Amino acid sequence: MLKWWQRAVFYQIYPRSFADSNGDGIGDLQGIIDHLDYLRDLGIDAIWLCPHYPSPLYDCGYDVADYTDVAPEYGTLETFRQFLAQAHQHDIRVILDLVLNHTSDQHPWFLASRSSRDDPKRDWYVWRDGRDEGPPNNWLSAFGGPAWEYDPTTDQYYYHYFFKQQPDLNWHNPQVKAALFDAARFWLDMGVDGFRLDAIGTIFEHPDLPDHTASCSQLELYAATHLGGADPDWVQEQWEAMFHYQVDQPEVHELMRELRAVIDEYPDRMLVGETGEVAYYGNGSDELHLAFNFPLMETERLTPAWVRANQQARLTALPHAAWPCNTLGNHDSSRVYSHFGDGTHDAELARLSAALVLTLRGTPFLYYGEEIGMTDFLLEDSSQFRDALGTWVVEAARSMGLGPAEATALGARFGRDKCRTPMQWSGAANGGFSPSTVRTWLPVNPNYARGINVASQIDDPDSLLSFYRRLLRVRRETEPLIEGDYVSLHEESGDYLAFLRRIPGGQTCLVILNFSPHTHTLRFDLEQQTAQLLFSSHPRSPSDHLGALKIAPFEVYVAQVGPED
Ligand code: GLC
Repeated sequence: MLKWWQRAVFYQIYPRSFADSNGDGIGDLQGIIDHLDYLRDLGIDAIWLCPHYPSPLYDCGYDVADYTDVAPEYGTLETFRQFLAQAHQHDIRVILDLVLNHTSDQHPWFLASRSSRDDPKRDWYVWRDGRDEGPPNNWLSAFGGPAWEYDPTTDQYYYHYFFKQQPDLNWHNPQVKAALFDAARFWLDMGVDGFRLDAIGTIFEHPDLPDHTASCSQLELYAATHLGGADPDWVQEQWEAMFHYQVDQPEVHELMRELRAVIDEYPDRMLVGETGEVAYYGNGSDELHLAFNFPLMETERLTPAWVRANQQARLTALPHAAWPCNTLGNHDSSRVYSHFGDGTHDAELARLSAALVLTLRGTPFLYYGEEIGMTDFLLEDSSQFRDALGTWVVEAARSMGLGPAEATALGARFGRDKCRTPMQWSGAANGGFSPSTVRTWLPVNPNYARGINVASQIDDPDSLLSFYRRLLRVRRETEPLIEGDYVSLHEESGDYLAFLRRIPGGQTCLVILNFSPHTHTLRFDLEQQTAQLLFSSHPRSPSDHLGALKIAPFEVYVAQVGPED
């Protein structure tokens, strides 16, 4: 029997940007409550809610100032309870974002910790003496610049893997563990269904603080990573060398086992980790329930060869009993529509991307707005940036001699505001997210006025939204698409991906995703020679002969191929 989180389709909500119920330009929990019918009709089963905790918002909520409360602009604990209860009434589960690696520098724990070397909370964070008038070593923050910040009050440095406004907690201290486990219990007791664990790979550092050995600058490496053109092996090597001692340390697995034990005290809860590493599944049942298949999305193009190689590697690497988890976009990446489009067939490729993530074996995670084809919105005025990462890139690029426009373009591309703009609900001003007179916290992408909004698409059978809704329904009603194993077919094809999802001894589905502008007539030597259509992006007859199956350019085709009913 599969668990709910193996059957579910998750939908990630960035609360600031989903729905603004009180007209202040900022999304809130009541806004989500107001759209639960929309989500149920869309056909998703669970929400991953990005951080909703009080926060000074230096990192858009990933700098938590109180783990057991709700940011006032999103509502109160009471609103949260209502949201949870109503989501459950809609048969939608809710998992929260748990940020374990660091707190905000405004969290009372850190304020106490930095106040004196003798403070009882001093050892809750990672404090070290400097070396030769400088920081303890040459480690870098993933968000730019040194990973150590000097604090004159106590004449020591504290460590931060992310922004300096996000000091790392010292997880070697049992009090830290107890405090964060208590916070997790607070929400579990309230009834939340699990957690997405933020940045777990960064929780521990190498205790000896060895210097990193990368040979290029951080900006050089980031530019090579994001702008393409560099030798991927070199890029990989430099990342390894730069952050090797700061990520994926062995101690974190012990911690994940302990956290799993806490979760397992409650019936039917789950953990999904922000990591692409299969090692975090542990033995398949003692660490995380799910770890994202990030390697799948780490490409410019979802070609059949890429997907095949990814599935081959991923499914073989998973420990026994571990369940895969696929996603193509989130609040840190480009939007699916922009990322995997080719500039000519974007609409077709968006359908193929959706079909891919919804038919591969594993739990799919969708990102809000993906279902209507929201695109990246590159801000041209850096004063509108809300993501400090984008601002850092602008400043770094300026210091390297780039002109203001070029630096802003780089910042917009590298920063994450581009994929966090408000949900586009209608063709009304502000995309129906906030009243027309309000300035939204990030500008709404003006393409809301060109049909990229829920209201324009909801009753249009040919819209992307209708495509998602139809496919989500078929997935829910087609057991092999949930439970079935994955068997790759026609591996020589560079144009299309073909695979079976089979329940041993039960039903089988054939999935064909034609990523090319070419028509193909395919032949499959399967036991049953007729295919009963379950879903197609193109008009088709209800059954086909597998001796000559004609597939249209960019077609998505899903059929039942056995056994005969
Ligand atoms: C994770 C989050 C990202 C955040 C970072 C620091 O990577 O997904 O948005 O900035 O952690 O918390």
